[in-house]
Amino acid sequence: MTKTYLSGIQPSGLLHLGNYFGAIRQQIALSEQDGEHFYFIADYHSLTSLRDADKLRELVRETAITYLACGLDPEKAVLWRQSDVPEVTEIQWLLSTVTGMGLLERAHSYKDKIANGAKPNVGLFTYPMLMAADILAYDSDLVPVGKDQVQHVEMAQDMAGYFNQNYKTEVFKRPEMLLEKSETMQKVPGIDGQKMSKSYGNDIWIFEEGKALKKRVGKIVTDSRPPEEPKDPSELFLFDLLALFLDADELSDWKSQVEKGGESAPGYGHLKMRLKDAIEEHFAEAREKRLELLATPSVVDEILAAGAAKARARAQEVRDRALYACGLR
Ligand code: ADP
Ligand code: TRP
Repeated sequence: MTKTYLSGIQPSGLLHLGNYFGAIRQQIALSEQDGEHFYFIADYHSLTSLRDADKLRELVRETAITYLACGLDPEKAVLWRQSDVPEVTEIQWLLSTVTGMGLLERAHSYKDKIANGAKPNVGLFTYPMLMAADILAYDSDLVPVGKDQVQHVEMAQDMAGYFNQNYKTEVFKRPEMLLEKSETMQKVPGIDGQKMSKSYGNDIWIFEEGKALKKRVGKIVTDSRPPEEPKDPSELFLFDLLALFLDADELSDWKSQVEKGGESAPGYGHLKMRLKDAIEEHFAEAREKRLELLATPSVVDEILAAGAAKARARAQEVRDRALYACGLR
């Protein structure tokens, strides 16, 4: 049986190295394998935090362009905008009537956001329910996500079960998650050493280049020890960033020089320059493709429209099944 893979990403900021190595790269690699691949831009979800229409429009476009520029082939994967398939909000309502408040009250992401000072809106509270609807609307088998989304996928499994049990039906398929195995990729550090995140302001945009990139990389937090002092590379998160780009031989060479210390050992500035060059080189082709796509908006519009048509046809079937099962048809 062909498997359906589905994932979404919020267009709430420019995509950074953490998003790329923790999510986008795997999603694009998966779409080269057998199966049906569905990837969408979660614009409904972004409304829980973003209230600037022009900015949202721009970020939706940037997000689509990022996926395409990084190699997503629209012939192999369906790419669309979440809000082009309003059926997901209908499914969300159906799920909301069979889900207990307690399930959502246990959501870590909601509790974390509140703890960080977010003013809770109902949408933020029901965020996992819309995400469950996203997953269930397409009969998804596998959901490739980062570690922080595990609980949300588990909630989608629970909600599918509640609906099916209540209506003694098999309308919703139980999705499974697909997690990135590598620790290095799961938690890419930001310039301050904490997990890279738009909301911490410690991120590096994947298409940053030249002076701006140099400045950003220059801000990576280090200490005041001189180059000649021997250091333990495993204590320097700068190496976790370098590890994303350098091959194993080059990486271990830099590490052993730092470990030895002495006259010829590289200083932090030197390592940062290497990182800057490596980032630029890694995304050089994608950067060019991005510029091409920015200059031809109709190409992107057509890809999103074709993706929406395919995705919507699937969601309508599932929605119809669900409406019938609960007596609305
Ligand atoms: P942000 O924290 O910047 O708001 P999101 O929560 O929108 O990022 O994450 C989008 C995707 O990127 C998720 O699958 C998430 O797991 C992944 N991701 C985000 N930050 C990192 C990181 N620092 N390291 C690895 N993966 C990340
Ligand atoms: N909540 C996800 C994130 O912030 C984005 C998302 C929305 C998603 N709907 C989804 C991911 C459905 C996977 C499946 O990263």
